[in-house]
Amino acid sequence: MQSILLGSAAGGGVPQWNCWCPVCHAARESPRRVVPRTQSSLAVSADGQRWFLCNASPDVREQIARLPRGDDGALRRSPIEGVVLTDAELDHSLGIVLLREAGRLRLTATCAVARTLERDSRLLPTTRAFAEVSVTELSLDEPAPLRYRDESPSGLELLAFAVPGDPPRFASESMAGHTVGLLIRDTATGGTCAYVPGCGALDPSVVERVAGADVLLFDGTFWSDDELITLGVGTRRAVELGHAPMSGDGGSLLTLATLPSRRKIYTHVNNTNPVLVEGSAERIEVIRAGCEIGVDGVRFEL
Ligand code: MLT
Ligand code: MN
Ligand code: ZN
Repeated sequence: MQSILLGSAAGGGVPQWNCWCPVCHAARESPRRVVPRTQSSLAVSADGQRWFLCNASPDVREQIARLPRGDDGALRRSPIEGVVLTDAELDHSLGIVLLREAGRLRLTATCAVARTLERDSRLLPTTRAFAEVSVTELSLDEPAPLRYRDESPSGLELLAFAVPGDPPRFASESMAGHTVGLLIRDTATGGTCAYVPGCGALDPSVVERVAGADVLLFDGTFWSDDELITLGVGTRRAVELGHAPMSGDGGSLLTLATLPSRRKIYTHVNNTNPVLVEGSAERIEVIRAGCEIGVDGVRFEL
């Protein structure tokens, strides 16, 4: 399996259009000190030619430009075979409607996520006005083959597991599976990637799921629980927003440091998070713990 972290930032990206927090300021003024990042998405492929997006971000257009073009001579073509969703948050789903030129679009999502896209954000009915959209149901805790557009198996297998947290604030109800982590396994090589861009707590149930992954991509939205409050840009704590902070006793870093994965990469990093600043004490702490801070374009092969 080949994987490319297409977007490593949380909603808003880095820098965020209306934000002049120290990190966004640095991302504009000295992009070497804070590397700009697009919004949260991962691409995976068994053959390096045909790709699946895990989440479709509002930056999907420039993100797809990082992938091979799929040179089969057709006038309109795309290397994207389908989109798998971890939740129905806007930063993970607005890209669906931006892919409306596809003609046909294959989505894979839990019932809870599909329902929110259908009824609440209405991204599915809107996209269906332009393209034929199919949704393959992703059951919780059951491995399922990821299929190409022509229904043949890709050789990649998905396993979705529910993680702690809340559904999007515009969801009309809270159903099981509103936010999931994915285990993506290459059935030929056995290589496994865990993709968990949103998670309210790295509790024992999540640890049990991700511990066997060769590469773990995990929620790095906030460094501290009161990050938005201290900066004066928000009133809610990280955990109230469905994101376990990295630091502190209940934070993800202490636990992540103990996991055996070959690479442990933070992604979905919010623009307020000081780990984005080269040389910051927080960034050094993450690296000393054996973890990485994701940046757009990180690749790995499993
Ligand atoms: C989140 O990850 O909590 C959501 O995407 C928030 C947002 O972008 O509005
Ligand atoms: Mn998000
Ligand atoms: Zn900012």
